[in-house]
Amino acid sequence: MQYANITGWGKCLPPAVLSNEDLATFLDTSDEWISTRTGIKERRISHVSTATLASLAAKRAVAVAGLDATELDMVILGTACPDTLIPNAASFVQASIGAVNAAVFDLNAACTGFVYGLSIGTAMIRSGAMKKVLVIGADRIPYFLDYTIRDVSVLFGDGAGAVVLEACDEECGLIAEKLGCDGEARDILAARDSGTVRERFAGVDGFFDVNFEGQEIFKRAVRGMGQAITCVLEKLALEPEQIDLLVPHQANLRIIDTLAKRMKSPPEKVVINIEKYGNTSAATVPIALCEALEEGRIQPGDKILTAAFGAGLTWGAAVIKWGSRITPLAECHDELPENDKTALELIMPWVEGCRAAVAEKAK
Ligand code: ACO
Repeated sequence: MQYANITGWGKCLPPAVLSNEDLATFLDTSDEWISTRTGIKERRISHVSTATLASLAAKRAVAVAGLDATELDMVILGTACPDTLIPNAASFVQASIGAVNAAVFDLNAACTGFVYGLSIGTAMIRSGAMKKVLVIGADRIPYFLDYTIRDVSVLFGDGAGAVVLEACDEECGLIAEKLGCDGEARDILAARDSGTVRERFAGVDGFFDVNFEGQEIFKRAVRGMGQAITCVLEKLALEPEQIDLLVPHQANLRIIDTLAKRMKSPPEKVVINIEKYGNTSAATVPIALCEALEEGRIQPGDKILTAAFGAGLTWGAAVIKWGSRITPLAECHDELPENDKTALELIMPWVEGCRAAVAEKAK
């Protein structure tokens, strides 16, 4: 029996920090409201493309695994924000890290993209078709936001995280998952004109028609992740107390607290970093996993439960049994290109564009 051990991990957060106070300079909001309703204090805004963030997270993960990128059989990039639709963003990653022998594709399950990718990568290894698979979650949701709407535009940040999966004989890696989607509610979280449905040569350039029904998403997130968690625990005949660490999607601290309460998980068993990065969509889970390892919160053999939900409304949960190694085999010293702009300077053109588009539409 083949398993897919996680042997490498890496993350990439762009340097520009957008604080709640920064947002309050152009939105009718406050640090107090954002902190208490979401748990977010700040988020990152990228000066580079999604695929560039993904590539650096990938290089770091490949180094930690002690591999050469030419050894990879597949690259799965979970993203809803590819630089281009044609070609896919995963091909940029392949070229940039030198994974010349890898099959590559983008996977769009929004915030659940990494968990879906982990499931597919694991299945490819367990079937015997592949030996080494790189799974990345990378997103730049702030690019799509309507900065005239205050509830949605305070929630998201940019980032990327990655893991390397390698075939192994011992039971480790992803050992159970449950994935799903509430397609009938797909409109409640949508950039409705972000694809070919958009009328060409009409509409306002650069503006996306975002629909976001926060309270309904909140309810469905708790329900979808809750059901998926119950299902994976049942599959493995595990009691919640037997989970060593909960690594949830970071969308809202209140959602995380609700899940932790259901799992009866004390704070030391829950990874929370939403205050620093906001919701980085497909990147939240691999970034949180990476930080848990860096902080020594994962031990060999630990059972880690992860759960996520996102646009679609996709949802999923998975149990990972950690292998024997919790330290990197090597380090990658590459960095992103220099950035000379503040986060506010990076997003103000979008804010002004959104205001102009909304004013134009109202005419
Ligand atoms: N600043 C100040 N006030 C605000 C803000 C803001 N940023 N946003 C909303 N408010 C106001 C509202 O206007 C409302 O005022 P009113 O009572 O005068 O009408 C009040 O605050 C309460 O609004 P609610 O919508 O009831 O606030 P709620 O407690 O539901 O929190 C939130 C809103 C944070 C969006 C919450 O619903 C949520 O987190 N939902 C889940 C969202 C989520 O996780 N999305 C992830 C998507 S994943 C993906 O795939 C992209």
